[in-house]
Amino acid sequence: MEVNNRYRPAYHMSVPAGWGNDPNGLIFYKGQCHFFYQYNPHAPHWGTIHWGHAVSDDMIKWTHLPPALVPNEPYERELGCFSGTAIEDKGLLYLMYTAATPEIQQQCLAVSEDGLYFEKVKNNPVIPCDNQPEGGSHRDFRDPKVFKHDGTFYCIVGGNISGKGNLFLYRSDDLMSWQYIGHLFEPQQHIPTPFFNVDGVCECPDYFVIDGEEVLLFNPQNHPTMGYHYENVHSSVAMCGHLDYETGRFTIRNVHELDAGFDFYAPQTFTHGDGRQIMIAWKEMWFRTYPTVPHNWIGSYTLPRVLSIKEGRVYQEPIKEIESYRRHKRDLGSFKVDNGYTSFNHCHGQCYELNLSIKPDGKTKRAGLKLLKGGMHETSIYYDVHKRALVFDRSKAGTVYEGRDETTVRTCIINTADPVDHVDLRIFVDISGIEVFINGGRYVMTGNVYPETVDEDRVEFFSDGGVTEFNDVVKYAIVVK
Ligand code: FRU
Repeated sequence: MEVNNRYRPAYHMSVPAGWGNDPNGLIFYKGQCHFFYQYNPHAPHWGTIHWGHAVSDDMIKWTHLPPALVPNEPYERELGCFSGTAIEDKGLLYLMYTAATPEIQQQCLAVSEDGLYFEKVKNNPVIPCDNQPEGGSHRDFRDPKVFKHDGTFYCIVGGNISGKGNLFLYRSDDLMSWQYIGHLFEPQQHIPTPFFNVDGVCECPDYFVIDGEEVLLFNPQNHPTMGYHYENVHSSVAMCGHLDYETGRFTIRNVHELDAGFDFYAPQTFTHGDGRQIMIAWKEMWFRTYPTVPHNWIGSYTLPRVLSIKEGRVYQEPIKEIESYRRHKRDLGSFKVDNGYTSFNHCHGQCYELNLSIKPDGKTKRAGLKLLKGGMHETSIYYDVHKRALVFDRSKAGTVYEGRDETTVRTCIINTADPVDHVDLRIFVDISGIEVFINGGRYVMTGNVYPETVDEDRVEFFSDGGVTEFNDVVKYAIVVK
């Protein structure tokens, strides 16, 4: 398959050729980070899913390896090896994944001594589709998250009960035989979102403890849009709360969407050797047109993000390793723009990090940036003062998307708990994708854009209606060789 790399990100992980979706089995094993992913090596569309595999020392530069799981067993006939996690036990690396056929989905195990070659265990499936509560769907039962708690293995699997999305908890002493404990959600729990009422599956669960908080992540399919939240066809949510290991019930304290952008799904976390909890997500969305399909590849991933919890909210910051790829520092200091726009020499590119703080005055309606700007195209990232929101507008960015959802503008409401007079941004632009970290990672907006030409690369600062201060503006090229 001949691949055109015009839109390939330079410092974000992407699929070498063919199709890639969810990150899987992220793990720090024997001193390296392993990244597996949902992979169709044969064509740039979803189908016959393998586990692609890459490794890295710093989570920025990845080395691609042969697929770790190939769908060659009768129990994964036609559809393949769906998402799951990795866990180390007694020096061996285990992958727990979903074996999917058009009729049923079941949880299976593969094991490796070196982290390269994996063998599927003889007693697969280790959680067959009938080891579920009554009403559990045999066709939608997937994405096991395995972890250890007090010396025992637990696994959370996504599914639904009588058509309503839910998650199921299992327990095991040896990873081979699993006992069903209970479902995580009771629909009568009072929370301000109908996530378990969705017609679909709660996909790709994750669960971990950081900063003394228990955090559950998952992806409710078809979550209805609520105001400016949950605007993508499928959503990614984070919950703080408490998991009862005896009943399986998860008591929800609060809930929020993980990323307010367009292209973010199926995030998965792992604990780095140095203790950081790191999350990577698929930097795409289901049911869209994918402009790189004619280039014979589709599938890129977010920067690895370090998680922390403040006031019941998951904060996300790019891993510090990205900073060693900074080159050509351009320190623009602080300046004002009075109802107009400005730009600077040597402040352009398609591959950079831009840090700044935006402080509009009382007359300003909108203030922010035009990125990847050329004669015909631009992407706008700006603060809408009346809405108190950050807006990511890709309606003029280049190739137009189509999807089941609205695909051109996303709005991230900035909470009243944030400072009122300014907004801090850390923006990463990488050829065909943008990640915007807002107010120290309290919010993030991720989206792909496809400027038509390589010289659509200008950066413009604008203020509509009044005077805006742009403070501490620093840009770095990011160069990965
Ligand atoms: C989420 C998902 C998972 C499934 C995988 C199949 O994006 O639908 O639930 O395991 O993709 O590739």
